[in-house]
Amino acid sequence: MTEEGAVLERLAELRAIVAHHNQRYYELDDPEITDADYDLLVTELRSLEAAHPEVGEAGSPTSTVGGAPSSQFAPILHLRAMQSLDNAFSDDDLRAWAERLERLLGDETPTLSFSCEPKIDGLAMSLLYRHGRLDRAATRGDGVTGEDVTMNVATIASVPQTLPDPSAAEVPVLEVRGEVFMARADFEAMNDRQRVLGEKTFVNPRNAAAGALRQKDPSITAQRPLSFLAYQLGVVEGVAEGSAWNPSTQHEVIDQLGRAGFLTAAEATVEVGIEAVLERCRAFDARRHDLVYDIDGVVIKVDALELHDRLGSTSRAPRWAIARKFPPEERTTTLLDIEVSVGRTGRVTPFAVLAPVFVGGTTVGVATLHNEDQVLAKDVRPGDLVVVRKAGDVIPEVVGPAPGQRERAGRGEPWSFPASCPSCGQPLRRAEGESDTQCTNRSCHAQLVQQIAYFASRGALDIEGLGEQRVDQLLQAGLITSPASLYRLEASQLEELEGMGELSANNLVAAIAASKARPMHKVVVGLGIHDLGPAGAKVVVRAFPDLHALAAATEDALAALDGIGPTIAKRVVAFMADPEHAQLVAELAALGVGVVEVRDGSLPQNLLGKAIVVTGAIPGYTRESAEQAITDRGGTSPGSVSKKTYCVVAGEAPGASKLTKAEQLGIPVIGADAFAALLEQGELPR
Ligand code: IVH
Repeated sequence: MTEEGAVLERLAELRAIVAHHNQRYYELDDPEITDADYDLLVTELRSLEAAHPEVGEAGSPTSTVGGAPSSQFAPILHLRAMQSLDNAFSDDDLRAWAERLERLLGDETPTLSFSCEPKIDGLAMSLLYRHGRLDRAATRGDGVTGEDVTMNVATIASVPQTLPDPSAAEVPVLEVRGEVFMARADFEAMNDRQRVLGEKTFVNPRNAAAGALRQKDPSITAQRPLSFLAYQLGVVEGVAEGSAWNPSTQHEVIDQLGRAGFLTAAEATVEVGIEAVLERCRAFDARRHDLVYDIDGVVIKVDALELHDRLGSTSRAPRWAIARKFPPEERTTTLLDIEVSVGRTGRVTPFAVLAPVFVGGTTVGVATLHNEDQVLAKDVRPGDLVVVRKAGDVIPEVVGPAPGQRERAGRGEPWSFPASCPSCGQPLRRAEGESDTQCTNRSCHAQLVQQIAYFASRGALDIEGLGEQRVDQLLQAGLITSPASLYRLEASQLEELEGMGELSANNLVAAIAASKARPMHKVVVGLGIHDLGPAGAKVVVRAFPDLHALAAATEDALAALDGIGPTIAKRVVAFMADPEHAQLVAELAALGVGVVEVRDGSLPQNLLGKAIVVTGAIPGYTRESAEQAITDRGGTSPGSVSKKTYCVVAGEAPGASKLTKAEQLGIPVIGADAFAALLEQGELPR
């Protein structure tokens, strides 16, 4: 086949593939692939079509909207076609769109204003009100003909049957368009209920909303927690020029819909110029997980409605609006293998080796599978296509097999947990009732690598140039055996190692020596006591300022400290009671590792015994310096709120869970502006 022939064949194939996925998504409410994988197919198809205009648009899914209306519902001919939106996947796509608008509108148009709205991941809906009363509700369908879902929509609490705004009663025909969706919390609660009942759970809120809306029996829809958010006016008949039902901008449309009794997006803003829009999209992306609904992007609309008419539409989408899609958080890829890694505590964790895939803003090649039960529950097997999720800062995770994998012929065998440690070969143990599998061999090489690398890491002794690989090499060469042994290394021993010269050997020895001057709490972190993080280590070190004192601390004395619970107190004592650990601690103390932290004695100790939790940014302070200001005055600054907390200082963007906890426990919360007074007075400012 000629190259040209192959391209045309791919084009035809893509049309069939996209049409198939349209049907799965719009008609069957049962998508087989993630939205991002679908978008990639459409993007490829569009670019082939653009390169081969001779093929024509007819029959292409790129020129159609949605899917065929189901015969399960009566057809409704839309008064005005319901269109789709074009997508922008990058800032440059958005800039190109704005430039095209300016070209189309000509030179005399001033800088454009845009309405920026969350793109809720739900189902488009048209509600027709006659004299203020809901007459019919229709899905988008293929854009021309929708499905009559009036009975189902009537069960949605946020769809007014009669508009409370009296002015609406005078409007003969009023079409409101918006999105039917399921709020994230409602979705979680519903899935919990389904689980308890042993019924099928839904993969995401969009899917759940689609399933709930397109029910034959409205009483089932009524049991599902659906909501409706209004964002557009369709056909409006019989209103005067100056009426509020005849607005001249998109933001006035949203305001009017809100006044008339509809739920509208509180997050919508108007931005002037495309660069401000880009900024706004970034802000939306950063906050997407804080919203009550799932959003997959931002819808950007030219604000002036008069320009909508001038700009017009293509066959499927208006030119005056575009959807800026966020980077995908879910993708499908091939699970190449399942391997296990050994952590510093001996915990053995399975992880997925994946064909690299771009998801959540980075390329992901490995993802955790947590533990044995998770692998079995998810039933993922090497060779499967799997859905990978990476949301925000959360570590990448394998959600499960892609739809259809379980039924696939020739699927691989279920994976089983290895019986022995991949590093030391000793048998692995999983205790009764525990979900973790452990390598219990104390001298396991992999564990030692992790322990020593952790000791040297940024959050602990911060030894530059001592990462996992270097530690591995030093252990293999027999030059070190424990964190303490690092301090006995000599440059002459290191010079001979592969990848090391005189200079780097001297540098490493100097970096190790310099780490002796780290504050004591960093050394305590470096010991790697389970669950004792940096905040806890600071609290402990205030009461037990050196390693000898800490080694002798009793469980009761530790548990009495604010920020240290009984579990951690037990862990610290158990750690110190272990002969190997005791030896390590004694050696580190003898080597003089860590500096006892002294307070600035010139300050009044007016916060003595008070635990003050800081959350969010306080102007003029870094996280560390705010904590320092508290500890310098005798107080402590634990990382979490408990009933022993004196007060919480909430700066900019405070942690919601800390505020909720404070509220539950009746702990006072003060703003960043009251922080200085708190330091000054040593008590809650009035
Ligand atoms: S305006 C002709 N505004 O996104 C313009 N759509 O991918 C039509 N959507 O079909 C829609 N939030 O289902 C608009 N604020 C918003 C939206 C929004 C979500 C959905 C809608 C539309 C789809 C296009």
